[in-house]
Amino acid sequence: MKYGVIGTGWIAKSFIDGARMLTQADFTAVYSRTEESGGRFAAENEIPKVYTSLEEFAKGDFDAVYIASPNRLHYEQSKLMLQSGKHVICEKPITVEPEELEELQTLAKKNGLIYIEAIMYMFNPARELLKDAISKIGKITSVHFDFSQLSSKYPAYVRGELPNIFNPALATGCLMDLGIYCVYPALDLFGIPQKTTACAHFMESGADGSGNAALLYSDKLVNFTYSKLGQDRLGSQIFGDEGTITIESISKLTNMKLIAKNGDTQEIIGDVAKEKLMGYEAVGFEKFIANPDDPYYTVTSERALQASRLMKEIRALSGIKFS
Ligand SMILES: NC(=O)c1ccc[n+]([C@@H]2O[C@H](COP(=O)([O-])OP(=O)(O)OC[C@H]3O[C@@H](n4cnc5c(N)ncnc54)[C@H](OP(=O)(O)O)[C@@H]3O)[C@@H](O)[C@H]2O)c1
Repeated sequence: MKYGVIGTGWIAKSFIDGARMLTQADFTAVYSRTEESGGRFAAENEIPKVYTSLEEFAKGDFDAVYIASPNRLHYEQSKLMLQSGKHVICEKPITVEPEELEELQTLAKKNGLIYIEAIMYMFNPARELLKDAISKIGKITSVHFDFSQLSSKYPAYVRGELPNIFNPALATGCLMDLGIYCVYPALDLFGIPQKTTACAHFMESGADGSGNAALLYSDKLVNFTYSKLGQDRLGSQIFGDEGTITIESISKLTNMKLIAKNGDTQEIIGDVAKEKLMGYEAVGFEKFIANPDDPYYTVTSERALQASRLMKEIRALSGIKFS
């Protein structure tokens, strides 16, 4: 598969490395706002062509685009690529608003193209291991998902700079960046909640630096906590009356354990390199392109829409606004 890439950050490099590890991906072009940044990224990643015009890039020699730009740009860039006949895999969150996602899903279908969210959870083989482990811990009434990771951009923010991740104008902040990793497994494992409550702590920039949400189901309560201002050391847990599942990384589903109620502990999975997890996204994407009728494409598309709707609800409940 020939790919073009939008975005020149570290995550784009991870996707390229992962796709090259697990597929025959051929990265032919990169779009950047500047020759300097694009040229550096192209040299580092052995990509032959750099574009600084998105319109010219859209006519480039590739079938699919991986988009890793700031969140606010995902909708417009994905739309242009889908209008230009390119399949799209776009970083999370795939769009800011669920209405935008629905519009682009319709456009992709009309143009016979695949359009998916680059979310590790949905393409991670450990998702099935987790589901299997859940079937072994009895009745589940309580769940706590946490994704709290001290941002590498926080020192710059403290110095008075405004990194993209803390700039509401780019539709970033903690929920959009990390909270989504709690939203996906909750929807995938337990379905759509009956009721949701949520709060956020705001930084002076107006971005949500941390937050929580509580999802009420008829038989369980699922709590989320997420922060970009402090580092979690305990991870996530799913509590059953026969045992507990502990998950060190809810985004990667790594270092998961099943602890029976008598304390016996069994490893579900250990560590997995992030590049490999992103490579699984490329594998899934290319499978859908080869077979658009793959029923799992419908599952991932529906899950993306459910996630976008729940994120919108959590934003409204928490008072998160993008300027
Ligand atoms: N899957 C994951 O684990 C993971 C991890 C991190 C991020 N992400 C997602 O990946 C996306 C990119 O995140 P990131 O942290 O790499 O973002 P970023 O560094 O803020 O921006 C990514 C690229 O977009 C361009 N850019 C930066 N600011 C821009 C602006 N104001 N207007 C237009 N273009 C701009 C830059 O490329 P040029 O200067 O070359 O144009 C930059 O390299 C986000 O959607 C994020 O949620 C996913």
